[in-house]
Amino acid sequence: MQNYIEASHAPAKNTGTIKLYGKDGFEGMRRAGRLTAQCLDQLAAIVKPGVTTREIDEFVFRFGIEHDAFPATLNYRGYTKSCCTSINHVVCHGIPNDKPLREGDILNIDVTLVLDGWHGDSSRMYTVGPARRAAERLIAVTYESLMRGIAEVKPGATTGDIGAAIQQYAEGERCSVVRDFCGHGLGLLFHDAPNILHFGRRGEGVELRPGMIFTIEPMINLGRPAVKVLSDGWTAVTRDRSLSAQFEHSVGVTEDGCEIFTLSPAGHTVPPYI
Ligand code: MF3
Ligand code: CO
Ligand code: CO
Repeated sequence: MQNYIEASHAPAKNTGTIKLYGKDGFEGMRRAGRLTAQCLDQLAAIVKPGVTTREIDEFVFRFGIEHDAFPATLNYRGYTKSCCTSINHVVCHGIPNDKPLREGDILNIDVTLVLDGWHGDSSRMYTVGPARRAAERLIAVTYESLMRGIAEVKPGATTGDIGAAIQQYAEGERCSVVRDFCGHGLGLLFHDAPNILHFGRRGEGVELRPGMIFTIEPMINLGRPAVKVLSDGWTAVTRDRSLSAQFEHSVGVTEDGCEIFTLSPAGHTVPPYI
C-alpha cells in the first residue's frame, strides 16, 4: 500500500511517503525548472571541441549564483561539482574534469538548480561537432523514450505505465534500458519517493495522483544494459563500452495529465541546437 501526504504537512526527510504538492509547489517548481532549462539552453553555445567539462561546470555554477540559485549536486553526498557531464559510454554521474571535448563526442549535461528551496532537475544530450549516425539515432531514441514516458503521466495511471512505455519503445528500437538508476520524486527535496523505473509492466508500481512531482530520466544504451561504477565512486559506464544517452525532465501530475517544468524556453529538443 502506498501512502500520500499533503506536502505542507510532510516531514522534510524522505520517509517513503509520497508528497502531494499544491499551487505553491507547482509555482516554485515552474520557476526552478525554467531556470534549469535556461541554463541548459545556454550550454548549447558552450559545448564545442576543445572545451573542458570543468569549463561547463564553472558556467553552471556561475549561472546558478547569478540567478540566486544553487546547484543541488555541489557537496551532495560527497559530490563536489555543479553538474554531471557524461560522455559517450558514460551512463550518468560523470564528473567534470580537464579533458577537452573532441569532435564526435556525445555528452549528457545534468543540472539541478535549487531556487527558493525548489529543485529543477533536467538533463539533455549535446553533440560535439557532427555526431556519428549511430550516436544520432541513440539520442533520438532516448529523447522519444522520455517523451513517451511523460505521455503516460495522468491521474490513475501508474509508475509502471511510464516504465513499460519507455521499455517497449526503446527495446523495439534495438536499444536497452539501464536498470541501475531511476527517476525520483522531488520538490523541496532533491531525491524523494517514489522511484520512477524506466522499465516494467503496465499497472504495476504506484498510482499517480494530482500534485505528485517527479523526474523521468531514462538512460538508454546502444548495447547491453549492464553498467559498472568506476573507482571514483560516481562515474557509471556501460560494461560493454557501448554508447549511452539520457534525457531528463521534472514533471508534475495535474488533474488531467501533467506539466513539464523543465521545457526549453528556446524550444530545444534534440541536438544539434541551432
Ligand atoms: N541530477 C542527478 C539526477 O538526475 C543526480 C546527480 S547526483 C550527483 O538525479 F551527486 F551525482 F551529482
Ligand atoms: Co534526477
Ligand atoms: Co538530473
